[in-house]
Amino acid sequence: MKALILVGGFGTRLRPLTLSLPKPLVDFANKPMILHQIEALKAIGVEEVVLAINYQPEVMLGFLKGFEEKLGIKIVCSREYEPMGTAGPLALARDKLLDGSGNPFFVLNSDVISEYPLKQMVEFHKSHGGEASIMVTKVDEPSKYGVVVMDEASGEVQRFVEKPQIFVGNKINAGIYLLNPEVLDRIELRPTSIEKEVFPKIAQENKLFAMVLPGFWMDVGQPKDYITGLRLYLDSLRKNHPEKLIKGANVVGNVLVDESALIGEGCLIGPDVCIGQNCVIEAGVRLSRCTIMRGVRVKKHACISGSIVGWHSTVGQWARVENMTVLGEDVHLCDEVYSNGGVVLPHKEIKSSILKPEIVM
Ligand code: GDD
Ligand code: MG
Repeated sequence: MKALILVGGFGTRLRPLTLSLPKPLVDFANKPMILHQIEALKAIGVEEVVLAINYQPEVMLGFLKGFEEKLGIKIVCSREYEPMGTAGPLALARDKLLDGSGNPFFVLNSDVISEYPLKQMVEFHKSHGGEASIMVTKVDEPSKYGVVVMDEASGEVQRFVEKPQIFVGNKINAGIYLLNPEVLDRIELRPTSIEKEVFPKIAQENKLFAMVLPGFWMDVGQPKDYITGLRLYLDSLRKNHPEKLIKGANVVGNVLVDESALIGEGCLIGPDVCIGQNCVIEAGVRLSRCTIMRGVRVKKHACISGSIVGWHSTVGQWARVENMTVLGEDVHLCDEVYSNGGVVLPHKEIKSSILKPEIVM
């Protein structure tokens, strides 16, 4: 089987992290987002992944080539020279997706995190005999997603409405599809949206089916959702692989720590914390609901909550970082500085407190 991952888009909502790396390469739970997906695809027997890219393809391929051999999966690139939307890239990659077998192929949005129940999806797809399957999940705030109205018993989709202005329902498109090759005949080679132009038509012909995704799901393409997504991911890790989480008197709830990270005396870590490779967390630090990316140093008695600290940054002693602060790569927050929701661009030194949520250029 083959799969295509939509990796275009500029990832503006996840700035400043995406100023350093394309969104799919931004770490989530100590692994680039896209690797979570590629590993799940490999696990159910996908042999080839096509990356539909329109932004920094060299960075992306350079990085992933190293994983081809490690994971034993072929990774190829389908390059767009103008953004083709969410359907156009499928038309562009047509020859790469069709292998003459008639088998369906997966399509994934690159910023969705879940337990990827792809095996169940293949079974579901076989069972209904339609042209396309999509995963759906329930959310409280459906307006920022594609909303699906479906027959509960058969899964047949009656309506697909992208980002509805008025309430249509609370089941939304989770950005994970399994499509028969015929779907490609519906897509023209131009910038076009699968959500607005393709799915509504297949639904009209009663050939689109939806499966409610078991387990958690989150689009982690913006900081608030990224932090919530980490909580859900760690909950799921607790259920399925509790051995991957650390234990200890100074640990509260679910905490994931790279084995190369150092944690000093008298810290209190958790809940819902992720600490990356080669991080140094000095004595007496308090961390909760946050991601500390690779190479960060958090100095003595600093306190970080509900925030993301980008690669190779430092947080000074007695500093306080909270309320959805996002520090870009290589940011240095001086001692005793307070950040209340600051969004700090890469390579900055912050000497005075950021008292209200704002972007620091
Ligand atoms: N190759 C390519 N080219 N990829 C693109 C382009 C493009 O021009 N534009 C967007 N993408 C990729 C993004 O990188 C992402 O992986 C995916 O397509 C969806 O784009 P987003 O920008 O993340 O869309 P969204 O989050 O607002 O909405 C989509 O995802 C929701 C679930 O998270 C839609 O599919 C919704 O229906 C869905 O509910
Ligand atoms: Mg998204």
